[in-house]
Amino acid sequence: MKLWSKGFEPDKMIENFTVGRDRELDLQLARYDVEGSMAHIRMLESIGLLKREELDVLLEALADIAAVIERGEFTIEDGVEDVHSQVEFMLTARLGDIGKKIHSGRSRNDQVLVDLKLFMRDKLRDIASATGRLFDTLISLSDKHRDVLMPGYTHLQVAMPSSFGLWFGAYAESLADDMQMLLAAYNVANQNPLGSAAGYGSSFPLDREMTTRLLGFADLHYNVVAAQMSRGKTERAASMAIASIASTLGRLAMDVCMWMCQNFGFVTFPDELTTGSSIMPHKKNPDVFEIMRGKCNRLQSVPNEIALLTANLPLGYNRDLQLLKDIIFPAVSEIIECLDMATFMLPQMKVRADILDDPRYDYLFTVEEVNRLVLDGMPFREAYKKVGQEVQQGTYSPVKEVHHTHLGSISNPANDRISAKFHNILKNFEL
Ligand code: ARG
Repeated sequence: MKLWSKGFEPDKMIENFTVGRDRELDLQLARYDVEGSMAHIRMLESIGLLKREELDVLLEALADIAAVIERGEFTIEDGVEDVHSQVEFMLTARLGDIGKKIHSGRSRNDQVLVDLKLFMRDKLRDIASATGRLFDTLISLSDKHRDVLMPGYTHLQVAMPSSFGLWFGAYAESLADDMQMLLAAYNVANQNPLGSAAGYGSSFPLDREMTTRLLGFADLHYNVVAAQMSRGKTERAASMAIASIASTLGRLAMDVCMWMCQNFGFVTFPDELTTGSSIMPHKKNPDVFEIMRGKCNRLQSVPNEIALLTANLPLGYNRDLQLLKDIIFPAVSEIIECLDMATFMLPQMKVRADILDDPRYDYLFTVEEVNRLVLDGMPFREAYKKVGQEVQQGTYSPVKEVHHTHLGSISNPANDRISAKFHNILKNFEL
């Protein structure tokens, strides 16, 4: 059964190939499809294309469908192509000709566009709040472990003293940059495409500002062709933000795997948060952070997949666009899953407080020694040479104290300013 049925049924193989995963993925769009239809018919009534009584009957039927969706009982029947067809068939089955009226001045190209804008806007909000929860966790761990020193590395060689306070805070502030990308994606998503119909508008006097208001969009895609072209762009912007968060989280996961390795031994987790080996009885593995690292690395290829799918598409609607759903839907769930997992795991991480007592980290303090000599009046290059020679001759002995007080350093990590920066971006999502 097709909305576009003209007296013949397409070959089953063609149907399966073209419908793809829509019957399953479109379930996530169902509530937005109903929301879009409600706004559209209110607007149709306002321009005289529906009678008041028709509107009331349609709104009631759509509200019933919304309740079915809310209960998780909505399905797309075999032989029905997608969510837009399913909703229209349900309305027509119940209301007959009135149900058939809601498609005036619109097309499924229009419907899927508006559904996706509403869906992405919500999901970007979900990602923003999950990122916010991880951010707050990182900042409070940074405060808690502010004075616990750890080695800082460059080239993965022992470099200068660092701290768990700096480490947690660094990932928090990095998330603030990712939030800028997320906000950009949110602003792209928060525009109303409805009214572009098949992609070139309609001869009905559609009131597009009314649907923009009803759907709570911040702005419209004015040009109907641009509205169609925003399909793919919204997903691309979202995927870039997701990839940006994933790159932060993937690196954090790598650090944790490394710090858990016995050669470092900086952090541990309660046994029940680790995984074992089927042959080696002693193992407590960091599988959680390995899976997180793997997922986050894979998520960074999503913008590339979207770029390839949409590269050189001719303007207007093309069915290729349907495949965007297969790429972006799982990416959205996966980044939220990783963010939530990090928020769950990190507060349970035990950090070792005496790492720097180990003599292998003695050279972390050579710069401190050089700086001390500089403060006593020796030119920097001479002080550098003196300490370098002591190291060379094996006579260097560290004073294990740090005096880092400038903004953003060990004793002054500026977490309050980092928090203000992050929450200033977060508030734009109107959570
Ligand atoms: N399932 C389709 C999609 O996601 C809906 C739009 C179908 N439009 C069409 N002209 N075949 O793109």
